Amino acid sequence: MESRLISGEEQENDFFEKTLRPQYIDEYIGQSEVKENIRIFIQAAKLRKEALDHVLLYGPPGLGKTTLAHIIANELGSDIKTTTGPALEKSGDLAAVLSSLEPGDVLFIDEIHRIPKFIEEILYPAMEDFSLDIIVGSEGSSRCIKIDLPPFTLVGATTRAGDISAPLRDRFGIVSKLNYYTEKELQEIINRTSRVLNMNIDSIASLELAKRSRKTPRIANRLFKRVRDFTQVEGKELIDLETTKNSLNKLKVDKFGLDQIDIEYLESLIDKFNGGPVGVETIASSIGEEVTTLEDVVEPYLLQEGFIKRTQRGRVATEQSYNHIKGEGV
Ligand SMILES: Nc1ncnc2c1ncn2[C@@H]1O[C@H](COP(=O)(O)OP(=O)(O)O)[C@@H](O)[C@H]1O
Ligand SMILES: [Mg+2]
Repeated sequence: MESRLISGEEQENDFFEKTLRPQYIDEYIGQSEVKENIRIFIQAAKLRKEALDHVLLYGPPGLGKTTLAHIIANELGSDIKTTTGPALEKSGDLAAVLSSLEPGDVLFIDEIHRIPKFIEEILYPAMEDFSLDIIVGSEGSSRCIKIDLPPFTLVGATTRAGDISAPLRDRFGIVSKLNYYTEKELQEIINRTSRVLNMNIDSIASLELAKRSRKTPRIANRLFKRVRDFTQVEGKELIDLETTKNSLNKLKVDKFGLDQIDIEYLESLIDKFNGGPVGVETIASSIGEEVTTLEDVVEPYLLQEGFIKRTQRGRVATEQSYNHIKGEGV
């Protein structure tokens, strides 16, 4: 399947992200509350010469969780080791990562909600007492040995805070929710990208791009790159409004940043299910999408922008979405 241009999730050709990723907290645009808190906690940890408390970052894909994890390590002057929830299949996988840590290191676990339960339990003493408890020997003669770990900071990231068990969540001293960005912040991010990639964009074009980026930096950067392609092929040296609009229309990203899947979702909700209420599973099967894609990627933005509402009996289309689907559209 072709990857979705305006999905906030990371895609294969997003490798350019590494060059675009801010390295220090002052370069990280927006999220001011989260940033200020983390700045203070980092300062305090450095003053006390202790490891920073464990940090849980949550929010929809593409809002800057991985970036912030790296920034935390840079600001601490520490190394970062990274893994993901689904990569930790055996208890030995986690034990290996934990025993590779140096004092003060940051351990970044992406998609932490996908850690298997029995491995999660190894994390508890590691987080709480910097101790790794492993069972050795076979059944009947097995015993538990304790290994001391150096003080470290676990940074966990998840798109699904609700899927994190209470005992795990409670072991994070700092829990921060990343929010969607304002148009102004996205414009700043786009301007920064324009400097890094050495391609100018005028301010009405960057505003248009910001409007169509689902309030998500990853999408803003991805659309920037596409619009840059159109601009260069047209022989222009500056990204302007005309090319921005034309190229985004060609790429089927409408003026609200909605794409084909969003439109199919809303059309299905309105035309097939009379505007709801209807369960997400039913919508998913009617448009041939995964429930998790709808829940993690499609719905958060539609909810945030007031196109749908979530009720106890299911999803409901709002007047705004009737206007958008039945009105002029793009
Ligand atoms: N606050 C920010 N300021 C500037 N660029 C950002 C910011 N947040 C995210 N980005 C850009 O968006 C891209 C995706 O961010 P990332 O941290 O990978 O998101 P997540 O891990 O939440 O899915 C990064 O490569 C970076 O270029
Ligand atoms: Mg990430």
